[in-house]
Amino acid sequence: MKSVPIVLIPGDGIGVEITLAVKKVIAASGADIKWFERYAGVSAIEKGMDVLPTETIETIEHYKVALKGPCTTPIGKGFTSVNVQLRKALDLYAAVRPVRNLPGVESRFDNVDIIIIRENTEGLYSGVENEVSPGVVMSMKVATDKACTRIARWAFRYATLRRREKITVFHKANIMKVTDGLFIDRAQHIHKTEYPNINYEEVIIDAGCMKLVQDPSQFDILLLENLYGDVVSDLCAGLVGGLGVVPGANFGENQAIFEAVHGSAPDLAGQGVANPLALLMSAVMMLNYLADTNDNSELKTASDRIKRAYNAALSDGCKTRDLGGELGTDKFADAIIERLDG
Ligand code: NAI
Repeated sequence: MKSVPIVLIPGDGIGVEITLAVKKVIAASGADIKWFERYAGVSAIEKGMDVLPTETIETIEHYKVALKGPCTTPIGKGFTSVNVQLRKALDLYAAVRPVRNLPGVESRFDNVDIIIIRENTEGLYSGVENEVSPGVVMSMKVATDKACTRIARWAFRYATLRRREKITVFHKANIMKVTDGLFIDRAQHIHKTEYPNINYEEVIIDAGCMKLVQDPSQFDILLLENLYGDVVSDLCAGLVGGLGVVPGANFGENQAIFEAVHGSAPDLAGQGVANPLALLMSAVMMLNYLADTNDNSELKTASDRIKRAYNAALSDGCKTRDLGGELGTDKFADAIIERLDG
């Protein structure tokens, strides 16, 4: 089979270290990938480019799939978040973040298996913020029929394909009656008219967060608008060991970008200690997606091997610092490679 083209955005901060580690594991797994490296964020600015170069967007449009390290958006310098821009530019409206326990990774709970589905293009991340008058600033929360309907339909379709049983919407429609009201109205409609066999419930987000930290096993798929999805993703990461172990993917109609939930961790950058697992797990999601869309069983074999290898490494106590271990980024990647079977 010929090699599969993937755009690689190393990103900023720990991004460079963890993408190198992930590339190394993928190469050892037998997956034949041809990487096209492009830039975004601070690293793009440092190379004299825009924060989100057109070339990066066009290359993803062309090759359709990207693996992305976290990108830093300079604060207070008039830059719109590079991540928000990228998701909007490619209309990657559905973010999927599976949150599960891993062997050997201690956490408060051992029964977490939640899929977070986040609307990725609007809400308070509309980017419309301004000063109304001196001392009064405003941020606009946007919800459209189109975006609320398509994310609800996407979530119910996903639930059906993955044989999941229940979708819970976290919302604040008691306060934001119009915007969150539209979000739940569209979800109710899709449930009633298209997917009545999937269980559906609505929980006000503050109570939902309490329920999550009391007993996460009561949730199956969480469907959230943009900001809630961002915040609750990190909360859920805390239920299974932290940001180092939660992968993610952003899907549109034509493209997909796979990236960890975490950011560029400036506090760890350049030290070689960051956990590459969340990005590696995102890469496994990517290989599965490519295996399905290209009907390529070699990629599925490679992704299964990587998954077994990182589970074995964790079970054997090989861990990075965030998980209580001592291995650096590179050594942890080596420990995974040593455990690739077959
Ligand atoms: P962060 O996720 O980068 O870090 C939060 C905490 O988690 C830090 O203590 C960090 O050391 C730790 N952490 C994160 N990833 C880790 C890993 N792989 N291994 C070990 N420890 C890890 O969030 P923060 O500090 O809020 O944001 C830093 C920068 O990242 C900001 O510029 C932000 O805009 C950007 N960011 C980018 C994202 C993306 O590209 N998708 C997502 C979230 C934030």
